[in-house]
Amino acid sequence: MQIGIVGSGYVGTTVAACLADFGHDVMNVDIDESIVRALNDGEAPVSEPGLDALLERYAGESLFATSDYEDLVDFAPDVVFLALPTPTNDDGSIDTSIVEAGAEALGTVLADIEGHPIVVVKSTVVPGTTQDVVGPALERESGKRVGVDFGLAVNPEFLKEGSAVEDFNDPDKLVFGTDDDRALEALEAVYAPLIEEGTPVVDTDLRAAEMIKYANNAFLAAKVSLINDIGNICKEFGIDAYEVADAIGLDDRIGEQFLRSGAGWGGSCFPKDTKAIVAAAREQGYDPQLLQAAIDVNDRQPQRMLDLLDSHVDVEGERVAVLGLAFKPGTDDVRNSRAIPIIEGLQERGAEVIAYDPNVGARDNMAERFPDVEFLASASPTLSGAAAALVVTDWPEFADLDREFDLMSGNVVVDGRRIVERRDGLVYEGLTW
Ligand code: UGA
Repeated sequence: MQIGIVGSGYVGTTVAACLADFGHDVMNVDIDESIVRALNDGEAPVSEPGLDALLERYAGESLFATSDYEDLVDFAPDVVFLALPTPTNDDGSIDTSIVEAGAEALGTVLADIEGHPIVVVKSTVVPGTTQDVVGPALERESGKRVGVDFGLAVNPEFLKEGSAVEDFNDPDKLVFGTDDDRALEALEAVYAPLIEEGTPVVDTDLRAAEMIKYANNAFLAAKVSLINDIGNICKEFGIDAYEVADAIGLDDRIGEQFLRSGAGWGGSCFPKDTKAIVAAAREQGYDPQLLQAAIDVNDRQPQRMLDLLDSHVDVEGERVAVLGLAFKPGTDDVRNSRAIPIIEGLQERGAEVIAYDPNVGARDNMAERFPDVEFLASASPTLSGAAAALVVTDWPEFADLDREFDLMSGNVVVDGRRIVERRDGLVYEGLTW
């Protein structure tokens, strides 16, 4: 098949590379020339395991990138995915202007694309956006009609950063939101290799497909906040929350995954999506109290780490080490990382913050936000002379830290991820254990 993809961020690029791997011809459209150049050179504009190898194999063969929507006309796509960002507005709702602008730009060439192309929204958008914003933008600019001249569909992604290629090739489900058979058949053809392997297909309408994405992320985020709430209770009682989590995880209805209590969730998805669906629900007149509480508990976890620190040491004028800056291990992404409120809290207390993350990209990204913080390239010099250390990300290498803590001037270690070994000589405070 001929597949167009508008937007080449971590979703658009992963989808492009993986669909080329399925044997499709792919054309990426992105307004950023440097991204277009990178893709055509077979280089990933984002860092995801396995992505570079796929791009190297297919770039220039069956995968091409362009900044000109007109190129789609000759390419004649059967399907065009919109994989554009939906940033957060001040009130937590999503800003759909980028998706709308992309749909308009696609609309200007849609009239000249032969056949019955299907436009598929892959971006995470609140229920109604595809029907009320994307469809009308395409119709406006093309003069064509949804369901008559071209099709409209929603196909959310469930890709985790750090394992996006693997997740694409081994999904637990495919969600196809469509209003007509032609759109459904097109999506079935795009994903034929996965469907043949037995991946379940959820065949639904546009709005339900949009909602499924939010429900999926809201449920997982709330699960972590619930185990964090339970973990906080355990800590008050002096009970090990991880022992409790292991026990309840044996109940199939609960399941063992996403029960690691600690500093909470960050990244570009859970914080944005929970806020957006709460805002969208309120606009409909419903106040989702449990989801709001999940957000509140998440916001509180870094504060609890700082409270634990305060209970042992006054850090004003002291060196304090922060270990872990990425929002989770295996990525350079620091968006909504729990390290941000931690560093802010330490600076408010007048501490001199020294930070380390094994990923140099994560250090660079955080340095842009905190020019006053010293970022070092390994754990030992970061800990050296520090009155206290706070562990924010569960990078595997932190599990091996031991004698490095003896370089500290103090001995307080607040562990937000249960990664450091508790031992004599350290005043060790686990966040929920
Ligand atoms: C998440 C979802 O897992 C994907 O299915 C979804 O497609 C994606 O958002 C998205 O909407 O695009 P991601 O944000 O990459 O993926 O990361 P996760 O691995 O799910 O971790 C989210 C956060 O939860 C991390 O900060 C992690 O440290 C935290 N977490 C996770 C916990 O604190 N405890 C746990 O037990 C599990």
